[in-house]
Amino acid sequence: MTLRVAVAGAAGRMGQAVVAAVEAADDLQLTGKADPQLGVALADVLGDADVVVDFTRPDTALANALQCLDAGVHVVIGTTGFDPEPLRTATGANVFIAPNFAISAVLMMRFAAEASRHMAKAEIIELHHDGKLDAPSGTAARTAELMEGDVPIHSVRLPGLVAHQEVIFGDVGQTLTIRQDSLTRESFMPGVLIAVRRVPQLTESPVVGLEHLLFG
Ligand SMILES: NC(=O)c1ccc[n+]([C@@H]2O[C@H](COP(=O)([O-])OP(=O)(O)OC[C@H]3O[C@@H](n4cnc5c(N)ncnc54)[C@H](O)[C@@H]3O)[C@@H](O)[C@H]2O)c1
Repeated sequence: MTLRVAVAGAAGRMGQAVVAAVEAADDLQLTGKADPQLGVALADVLGDADVVVDFTRPDTALANALQCLDAGVHVVIGTTGFDPEPLRTATGANVFIAPNFAISAVLMMRFAAEASRHMAKAEIIELHHDGKLDAPSGTAARTAELMEGDVPIHSVRLPGLVAHQEVIFGDVGQTLTIRQDSLTRESFMPGVLIAVRRVPQLTESPVVGLEHLLFG
């Protein structure tokens, strides 16, 4: 069965990459592109969609998701920097959220969590392009949450960067650095497509983190 997919934020940096990835997948059909820049509202695309993928802005992602659930449409959220708490009690369809859809980033978070149990202290440096609206990044916040101890986060915003993170550990006479780089936005697409295919079958909602689909 072909899943019908609409993209919210379709004119944005991530949205354009999602549109291309959905169009290239044989088992998915792109049925809508919502974005104020295209003059298309989310409400206009919900009637034809089984799943919406949201890469918009921190100030609109929650309202978009609630609108999808009201319409009985599943939603995969990549937007970061908003509080998803109200989605815990929302019903109508399933929600999947990931602060980072790159499989290498999920592995970085997992290895950092493991290392934090054995090393005395750690700090995170996250580096992103200068168009990113939120700081610290959702990935850095989630990494710190998964690690033991109090982990300071430093944010760098520069043109030329995409999405990068170093987790640096220190202990007696030794350090360990775990580094992950998303060099292009295509790095996020395999993870986004896994989430799109799996979100209709989730047995709980919301599910937060690609690790639950990869390892769970
Ligand atoms: N989870 C991940 O793996 C991941 C990876 C990269 C970026 N992100 C996040 O994705 C989000 C988007 O990033 P970007 O670089 O593509 O931003 P962007 O500014 O390039 O694109 C956002 C788009 O959303 C549109 N938009 C605004 N309000 C809207 C609404 N109500 N409905 C539909 N569209 C709307 C804007 O017009 C814009 O085209 C950010 O929160 C970013 O942090 C997440």
